[in-house]
Amino acid sequence: MSKLFSGKVALITGGSRGLGAATAAALADRGADIAITYVASEQKAQAVVEGLRAKGVRAIAIKNDQGDPTAAESLIREVTDTLGRLDILVNNAAVAWQGKTIDAPDIDNAAMDRQWAINTLGVIANIRAAVKVLPDGGRIISVGSGLGSRIGFPGTTDYAASKAAVLGYSKGAARDLGARNITVNVVQAGIMDTDMAAASKDNLPPIVLASHAIQRFATVEEVAAAIVYLAGPDAGFITGSVLNVDGGFTA
Ligand SMILES: NC(=O)c1ccc[n+]([C@@H]2O[C@H](COP(=O)([O-])OP(=O)(O)OC[C@H]3O[C@@H](n4cnc5c(N)ncnc54)[C@H](OP(=O)(O)O)[C@@H]3O)[C@@H](O)[C@H]2O)c1
Repeated sequence: MSKLFSGKVALITGGSRGLGAATAAALADRGADIAITYVASEQKAQAVVEGLRAKGVRAIAIKNDQGDPTAAESLIREVTDTLGRLDILVNNAAVAWQGKTIDAPDIDNAAMDRQWAINTLGVIANIRAAVKVLPDGGRIISVGSGLGSRIGFPGTTDYAASKAAVLGYSKGAARDLGARNITVNVVQAGIMDTDMAAASKDNLPPIVLASHAIQRFATVEEVAAAIVYLAGPDAGFITGSVLNVDGGFTA
């Protein structure tokens, strides 16, 4: 039976767990062949791949450190060499090292710089490499955060700025790629119940949930659904846009 994404290939960075794994599953359910990346969780990545193959699609996992922008070209080449093409790039991999104000005496500025490399420079490198192979009508979707548009509480400066930069780059890329009908959008998530948030779940400042109009964690499926929509044919005239799936954090 033909499905929405039959014949399409999607690359989801950071697909070994969390939102990336959920997005990979949602696209595979609709027929897309899938490449995921990971940096450390090889076993989790392989388990995700096995689950995707069980859905009847082709799937591969590629170890790729997004904090090394020089690795983007070889990543895209491995996807096209193995799966034959690339139609949809989902920039999902990121880290959130936050919690301290920029004047905290023990702030780890080297870690903040690495966060920029992973969340911003690596995403830009992926986009630059992908545009060389994406066909007309291709899709680029980057996962942002409500913090990329609104700073609701202190201690998030570098993370928030790393996401805001991707937003600006995506708007420019939408302009540059419009003639090829390639759309470039950002899905800004609110707080999700993943490993990223779990690290701070037990001592989450009350203001974090209170900042969301809907005061709960999002499921990864709720956010993945927005990515799937932007990847699909019904979203062909949406580009340079931000889709907030943030429980009203930016309201
Ligand atoms: N969770 C939230 O509350 C929240 C809120 C707003 C926005 N977001 C955004 O949503 C996206 C997904 O977050 P999540 O909560 O699913 O995160 P997560 O559970 O921590 O998973 C992060 C994923 O990124 C990969 N990754 C981390 N560093 C990498 C690197 N240097 N190179 C390549 N891959 C790397 C991880 O691979 P390994 O498994 O190999 O480490 C993993 O697959 C991110 O863009 C995040 O900023 C999250």
